[in-house]
Amino acid sequence: MTVQFSSRLPWQGLTNRFTQLLGELRQRDVPLLDLVVSNPTRALPALYSASLLAPLSSPEALRYEPSPQGALDARLAIADYYHRRGLRIDPEHLVLCASTSEAYSWLFQLLCNPGDAVLFPEPSYPLLPFLGSLASVEIRPYPLRFDGRFHLSISALEHARSDRTCALLSVSPNNPTGSYLRQHEAEALLSFCSDHDLALIVDEVFSDYAFADPCPHEGPRLLSCAELPSSLAQIPALRFVLSGFSKVLGLPQLKLGWILVAGPEPLRTEAQARLELIADTFLSVGTPVQLATPALLRARDHLFSGISRRISDSLQVLQTQLAGSAVTLLPVEGGWYATLRLPRLVSEEEWLIRLLCEEHMIVHPGYFFDFPDEAYVVVSLLSAPADLAEGCRRLLAKVESL
Ligand SMILES: Cc1ncc(COP(=O)(O)O)c(C=O)c1O
Repeated sequence: MTVQFSSRLPWQGLTNRFTQLLGELRQRDVPLLDLVVSNPTRALPALYSASLLAPLSSPEALRYEPSPQGALDARLAIADYYHRRGLRIDPEHLVLCASTSEAYSWLFQLLCNPGDAVLFPEPSYPLLPFLGSLASVEIRPYPLRFDGRFHLSISALEHARSDRTCALLSVSPNNPTGSYLRQHEAEALLSFCSDHDLALIVDEVFSDYAFADPCPHEGPRLLSCAELPSSLAQIPALRFVLSGFSKVLGLPQLKLGWILVAGPEPLRTEAQARLELIADTFLSVGTPVQLATPALLRARDHLFSGISRRISDSLQVLQTQLAGSAVTLLPVEGGWYATLRLPRLVSEEEWLIRLLCEEHMIVHPGYFFDFPDEAYVVVSLLSAPADLAEGCRRLLAKVESL
């Protein structure tokens, strides 16, 4: 028997060369240096005590009283989280969802007809084209310009836009490049969206994790688009700001994300009302996590400082070990990843395979994120500093041997 499978799913089979080789090494129990662990609960298990789960057992959760927008107390607690970061937002402008990935999918359903296009930065988060394809939306890349740091390029945006474009995505700080939107870049994005009637979607899941600015000459960074400085707030662009517990608290398993709907009225109110109808169709956020949100956000300092310490220590190891070497660590402004530029002695694919098969190291290849040229690899800063130090040692020895 055969059935028809949807072509919305960009299915590429079960394995590729890398996953096949990885499977063989695992079958032989070869110890592997995994430098791409991005699950904080695996990278930092000691940070998570059972007491974190206590607020999830409120007896109030025995009653089901769904609210499409999300429980008010949860939204108030999220507004308070922004307030503690120096940002004022209206809890009435928040819509809760199960994750940022779900937020993307809802926004594509809100804004796009099948065949419409959304612009997204390249390099960036690899799930975006996949999410677009599932919603029958074309995800059209706008390449970021690289001159030692990845920049917004308005001419790339102009080039990528077509009559079918209905929204523009920005990830700040970007995954994996770690680059934040600078204020002048945000101004250009908002003006571009306003001029062309595009909605702006800003993914800020990593925005709390800022390192000291390695490029202060680039102008001030915009740490969040949730509340804009007054010069930007007057640009009439509808914007959706995304974040959630998976990175804010390092608790991806709790499945709570949110969308802040902002921009000129009455468009903002209509967009939110339509979004709430989508949310009402799924009602996907669990009651226990909504009730627990105020208490969970009170535990944020502990989780945030533990994760921040780990990524700072790891970044420092990379900076020390790679200084003056043939491997360049690109400037990291924020987020959980670091990008290394390797000498082009072999292709990126070959680097990946050699590092796996000869050095027993797992790294992400640059092509995974659509870097503009070869040869990049990406590592997770959640990796243990000692593992990254060992990874640098093996990588530099490999470079020497080629
Ligand atoms: C830039 C970016 N956005 C969104 C997500 C997904 O977040 P969530 O777990 O809320 O779906 C990730 C996960 O790594 C990410 O890197």
